[in-house]
Amino acid sequence: MRVLLTGGAGYIGSHTALCLLEAGYDVVALDNLSNSCPEALRRVEELTGKKAPLIVGDCTDEATLENVFSQYKIDAVIHFAGLKAVGESVAKPLEYYQNNLDATMMLCRVMKKHGCEALVFSSSATVYGTYPEMPLREDCPTGCTNPYGWTKWISERILTDIAHADPTRSFVLLRYFNPIGAHESGRIGEDPSGIPNNLMPYVCQVASGKLKQLSVFGDDYPTKDGTGERDYIHVMDLAEGHLAAIRYAASHKGVEVFNLGTGEAYSVLNLVHAFEKANGLTIPYRITERRPGDIPVCYADPKKAAEKLGWTAKRDLTTMCRDAWNWQKNNPLGYNVK
Ligand code: NAD
Ligand code: UFG
Repeated sequence: MRVLLTGGAGYIGSHTALCLLEAGYDVVALDNLSNSCPEALRRVEELTGKKAPLIVGDCTDEATLENVFSQYKIDAVIHFAGLKAVGESVAKPLEYYQNNLDATMMLCRVMKKHGCEALVFSSSATVYGTYPEMPLREDCPTGCTNPYGWTKWISERILTDIAHADPTRSFVLLRYFNPIGAHESGRIGEDPSGIPNNLMPYVCQVASGKLKQLSVFGDDYPTKDGTGERDYIHVMDLAEGHLAAIRYAASHKGVEVFNLGTGEAYSVLNLVHAFEKANGLTIPYRITERRPGDIPVCYADPKKAAEKLGWTAKRDLTTMCRDAWNWQKNNPLGYNVK
């Protein structure tokens, strides 16, 4: 079975490519390299001994997709391709709506033309907006607070409507919580450009001395220690969730949405201290103002994925911290070929 990964050179795409290749799938990646580089997939090949061909091109472009589907017999698609920076989406909403929605719709159109019905979509816990009751279940109310989030919400809506109108389609919508960490080899990992927005990459760059200290955004939230709590999930657990989702899509019609999270909430300070302990390092930090738009707590109810996909996250916070640092210390400049 051959799986097309749009955005396959990116952070989650490259780890999923590795997982799929190891499980015996053929993999083709389509990526415009706007936030990634081919080195990630070269290293996936080095780790697995198998090649995932990379087509450099844009998922919003019909001719590009036509080429891919004509060149390869694609049995299923995992649609990772998208712009993902929340702050940037507020400054450039049109770019975000155009890229993320056009890509989703064009893909659906070309898949249908080529008789490819199974699609796994990268959604996000951000679609739960500010809904306050935890843990978040798939049937909780949704609604977003920024254009990036709306692109995920609207993509979910579009895919749901298409699946309802066409019973031959098999769509699986995955709502990721907070992916962190890296493959245990330290050869592939997250390679943010510029100063990281997210907590773990920021902590890693403080640990490496690239950044001076971490700003902890607020310690007056109604949480255990006053800092924000999130459901951090190891990127390899997340990648394995995609394997389960592909298997599910191959044997079920219709559309189904799943949380991919651990169900555990850790605070910013929990993560910092776990990182220090796991790696024998000290992370200098100071408490600053809350970051606008942040919610106090966000964690998943992961039961539905356990029951229907037969998948649960296995790796603990210590492993996430160890693997994140292993990647950072071995690759202080990331892939360094952007
Ligand atoms: P990433 O930026 O590392 O990967 C996305 C990839 O898509 C990049 O390689 C980029 O070059 C490519 N891309 C973007 N637009 C494209 C287009 N039009 N055509 C072809 N390629 C295109 O991000 P990631 O962290 O691996 O995230 C993958 C997906 O998961 C994204 O859709 C993201 O929104 C979603 N997601 C990520 C997180 C997270 O915290 N990392 C959380 C929830 C959801
Ligand atoms: N934080 C800090 N300092 C930093 C960075 C983050 O204290 O330098 C805190 C935040 O305030 C938050 C926690 O660390 O409490 C996690 O923040 P991240 O930026 O790592 O992650 P978010 O939960 O804010 O956002 C992530 C993705 C979004 C996605 C959202 C919901 O980045 O794309 O999860 O899935 F929409």
